[in-house]
Order: sequence, then C-alpha cells, then structure tokens
Amino acid sequence: MGRRRMIKAAVILVTLGYCSLLVYQGSVTLNASNLQESLPSVKTTKHNRDTRLPIILKTWFQLAKDQTWFFTDTDNQTQQQLTNGHLVNTNCSDTHQRQHLCCKTSVEYDTFMDSGKKWFCHFDDDNYVNVPRLVEVLQGYDYQMDWYLGRKSIPKPARYYNPLTKNMQTTRFWFATFGAGLCISRSLALKMIPVVGGGKFISICARIQQADDVTMGYVIERTMQLNLTIVPEFHSHLEQMKLIPSDIFREQISFSYSPKNTVDVPGFDASYDPTRFLSLHCFLFPHFEFCPR
Ligand SMILES: *[C@@H]1O[C@H](CO)[C@@H](O)[C@H](O)[C@H]1NC(C)=O
Ligand SMILES: *[C@@H]1O[C@H](CO)[C@@H](O)[C@H](O)[C@H]1NC(C)=O
Ligand SMILES: *[C@@H]1O[C@H](CO)[C@@H](O)[C@H](O)[C@H]1NC(C)=O
Repeated sequence: MGRRRMIKAAVILVTLGYCSLLVYQGSVTLNASNLQESLPSVKTTKHNRDTRLPIILKTWFQLAKDQTWFFTDTDNQTQQQLTNGHLVNTNCSDTHQRQHLCCKTSVEYDTFMDSGKKWFCHFDDDNYVNVPRLVEVLQGYDYQMDWYLGRKSIPKPARYYNPLTKNMQTTRFWFATFGAGLCISRSLALKMIPVVGGGKFISICARIQQADDVTMGYVIERTMQLNLTIVPEFHSHLEQMKLIPSDIFREQISFSYSPKNTVDVPGFDASYDPTRFLSLHCFLFPHFEFCPR
C-alpha cells in the first residue's frame, strides 16, 4: 500500500452475536503512513477469546473507522470509545431468536435511511471485510440504480409461509445470506421504505416466519421484483474457507470462520490467532504495526 489510494466505503452493517456493524459510504484515503498512524499498539502475549469485536477493531475497522457502525443491545462506554463513538444500542433483545435479529436489522435499515449514504452493506461479526476491495467492487455499480448484491447460501430458492393459505408458499425467491455480507443500493433501499421503513421490517419477518436475511430476499425479490445479483467475492462460513487460495485473497470482499473452518493463511500461531483474521489482515496489509516484520 505504498501509493495513495482513494477509497469510497459503503454502509457496512455487521451483526455481531449481540452487535451489528454498519460501514458508511464516504471517502477514506489509505496510504502506508496513515495506516500506521491510525493503529493501536497490540499486545502479542496472549490471545483474546472474549468476543469477536476486538478482532474487528484491531484489523479492518482501522481502515474504515469513520464509516463503520456497530449495533448492539447494551450500552458500554469502553466499547463506545473503541468504536470511534459508533456503537448504537438498538434496544433489541440479545438472543439469537428470529424476532430479535429482525429487530436489529430493522434498526440498521432505519439508521441507513437516516444517514443519506449511498450503499447499505451488512456483515456479521464473524466476517473479515476487505475494505478496499468492497469499495472497488461497489464502484462498478451505480447506487442510483436498484442493486441487491450478495451470495446465495442455499442451492435451492427459499419458500415462505403464507398466512392466508396457512401453507408454505410454493412461490420461490433467492436471498443473499447475511453470513457472507450483502449490499443494497440507496435507490433500492428508498423504494423499500413503504414496505420495511419505520420498524415495519419486524412485522414482515413475523408474518412470513423467516430469518432476517430470508425476509430481505422476500421483500426485494417478491415485493420489489428485483433479482439478487450474485457477487461471488462475498464468503460465509457455509463454504470451506480453506478452499480459497491465497493468491486471490486480495480480490475477495469478505471472509468468515467457524470452529475448524478457517482461512488457510500463513502467519501467527493458531493458538494466538484461531480465527486466522489477524494473519489474513497482515497478509493483505503487512504495514500494520502488529504484523511481523
Ligand atoms: C464493556 O466492554 C469492555 C470491553 O469489551 C469489557 O471489558 C467490559 O466488561 C464491558 N463492560 C460492561 C459493563 O459490560
Ligand atoms: C434505545 O433507548 C434509548 C433510551 O430510551 C433511546 O435514547 C435510544 O434512542 C433507543 N435506541 C434506538 C435505536 O431506538
Ligand atoms: C429473475 O430470476 C428469475 C428466475 O429465478 C427469472 O425467471 C427472471 O427472468 C429474472 N428476472 C430478471 C428481470 O432478470
């Protein structure tokens, strides 16, 4: 990263187990020196298994500090400072139940609409986001057109519950899995206001009895009549992470992990970096202070 590079980030929303995160569109200038200036010093003596948030804060968040927002279900002053003041308490419950995840997604959507930003991108807290690549890919799409960008999680289209017939509807639709990340253009998000704005997203989740990402697909494909555009550079842990070769890491937008399913990247010892995200970050951005010289 020796040369200067203009970066326009998007809105990124990451659902942490108990938080989610939003990266706003804006301009970020990356170069080697300001990368280092913006870095906290990192302890290398023991690994932190506490939560997923510290890993994000240590790595890719540093490249999009002004654009990234976290959505939680509690207030925490320490975390508020660590996230550059970008921690939003959604007041949603902290469980993984469908209605509570839908509640957070609903707050993310409403926050995005209030922000006036160009792209709504959601990621989970077990995603690593390759910020410059996300920006580069989004530059290939016009936010003033309708775009629903992401990756399918299942080989067959989803079906939904129809409360009128009390049946699973045979009408099918695709959805982008939140686990890999997805982006929605402002133009499309604006058209969705009458359907999902002001918290209405929660009632649609309840009505069709589906998870937040399936509900998003339902709204966009069924109600808005817009098809998902597959962007294969998004990755969830439903894929085998080790099958992504290191020579194409740079072109990927997101990575994920789960126990025994991690990116195959050289770097730190597995006991210090079990998710491999610290190593991946150093692979992509070796100038960061915590990276080995
Ligand atoms: C706030 O967050 C910090 C850092 O993650 C954590 O150590 C602390 O226990 C949290 N405080 C409360 C009251 O939960
Ligand atoms: C959560 O509740 C607090 C206190 O009532 C309120 O100030 C805040 O705006 C609420 N957050 C959201 C996202 O509605
Ligand atoms: C959307 O996808 C369906 C198949 O899933 C296809 O039949 C339809 O033609 C597509 N619509 C557009 C506008 O591409």
